[in-house]
Order: sequence, then C-alpha cells, then structure tokens
Amino acid sequence: SGQAKLIDGKEIAATIRSEIKVEVDKLKEATGKVPGLAVVLVGTRGDSETYVRSKRKACEEVGIASFDADLPEDVSEEEVLKVVKEFNSNPDIHGILVQLPLPKHMDSYKVTDAISPEKDVDGFHPANIGALAMRDRTPLFVPCTPKGCLELLKRSGIQISGRNACIIGRSNIVGTPMAMLLQRHDATVSVVHSRTADPAPIVSRADIVVAAVGNAEMVRAAWVKPGAAVLDVGTNPVEDASKKRGYRLVGDVAFEEVRQKAGHITPVPGGVGPMTIAMLLKNCLESAQRILQ
Ligand code: GUN
Repeated sequence: SGQAKLIDGKEIAATIRSEIKVEVDKLKEATGKVPGLAVVLVGTRGDSETYVRSKRKACEEVGIASFDADLPEDVSEEEVLKVVKEFNSNPDIHGILVQLPLPKHMDSYKVTDAISPEKDVDGFHPANIGALAMRDRTPLFVPCTPKGCLELLKRSGIQISGRNACIIGRSNIVGTPMAMLLQRHDATVSVVHSRTADPAPIVSRADIVVAAVGNAEMVRAAWVKPGAAVLDVGTNPVEDASKKRGYRLVGDVAFEEVRQKAGHITPVPGGVGPMTIAMLLKNCLESAQRILQ
C-alpha cells in the first residue's frame, strides 16, 4: 500500500510520437513518400469530432499526411462504402479509419469490413481480429487502445507472462481485443462484464486490471489486489459547473482511493487516452513501411 506509481501516458505517448517522427523522416528520405492516413467522420457527434480532430492534428505533428472525409449524418451507407473503396485504391493512403459509432441507419460491420485489411489501422477488420485471436498467426494491426495499454505495461516494467489479468468490459474496440492481446503475452486472463454475477473476487485476484466499461469510478479499492497495475480506459463525463463545458472527465476507476492500494495506476485524463492516438500513428507508420519498403 501507500502510493501507486503514476503511469504517465501523456509523457510516454510524447516519447513514442517523437520516435515515430524519426521513422517518418527516414521513410521520406528513403522513398520520397510519407505515410498517409484517411480519417472518415460521419455526422456531428461532439465526442467523435473531438477524437477525429486530435487524430488529424497528431498526424500533422509527426509528418503523416491526413486525408479527410467529413460526411453528413444522413449520408447513405452506399456513399460511405464508395469513399472507403476509393481510399483502399489510393496509393498515397496507408491507413483508413472510420470513426465509430456510425449513425443508426448504417451497418457499421459492413463499413469496417470494406476497409482493406492491409490498411485497417484500427485493427477492427475480422481478418485482423481473427488473427489476433489465433496463437500461430500475427495480425497486420492490433486495435489502438489495447496496443497502447500493452505498451504502457511494457514501458513501466510490468511483467505480463504468468500474471493474472482481469479485463472489465467486453467491447469489440477495447475489452475483447485487450483480453486476446494479454493472453497472447501469456497472462491468465479473466473478463468480467455487466452480466457477471460477482465480479469483485475475480478482479481481486488480478495483478493487472484493465477497466473499460464506461461506468464512472466503479472500480473501488476493495476490488483491487495490493500492488496491482490498474489501467483506466474510461472517459466518463460528470457534471462540474466550474468547467468550461460544464463537465469533467473521470475514469472507470475511483482514482484517489485505488491509488492508495495499487502498485501502478494510470490517471484520467493523461493515461491511456494519449496512447490510443500514439498507437494509431504507429500502426499507420508500420503500414506505410510495409507497403513502401
Ligand atoms: N470510437 C471509439 N474508439 C474508437 C477507435 O479507437 N477507433 C474508431 N474508429 N472509432 C472509435
């Protein structure tokens, strides 16, 4: 007990972005080309607009060219598929990302399935998710948030092999690929979710906890094994009249009490979030290196 070490995702992500910039410059030197990322945004959801703006800005800062497709909320699925296919065949584009969620009138699986697996920098295509799930295969891309969490563990010197890991949440974007990734790294993985009868004793056995449910401050100190590494993927708005927008973001972990018990903990904001974007850039760089070299 005492005080957990803070895992500074903001600082680690900045280090990674500078490593990426060096590699982008080298690629440019060697091939005369830079990595290109296409970012598709449909509609005007505030959170999606914010994420997309951050992703495009991060590209610019490391020298990745970004290609924008901002489509209206009422665009047809057919039109989105057409845009994706054009990006698939554009040789200046090495990564394609469709910001989720899509409007209800669209089948988001149909859209993500249309992205070429070779350009699927989000790692959501079934060919990549399938390869991630299989022991003797290597996916072309690993989803950005799980990959960022793994990188935080590695760069913080936290052992994974042989440890008990518990993932809270089973989403396609985070919980499920996180479980597959930690299992590939030889952790013993449990997943708890909304229908788990009694999650506390399962979480309490874990040396590594990844909270990705979207439930503000639901992980309490009583659930956490002393010395565990706790990664908080949650970004939940809670009302706060003193803030410009009228809210602040809190994680899925009750930070102030869990930090007294954990060995390592990520803050919100400044923990996992910046790593998601850094891993998107990394996936895009690796894709361009594969295609151009
Ligand atoms: N929506 C929430 N997270 C993500 C993500 O990582 N990628 C995309 N494309 N959409 C998201």
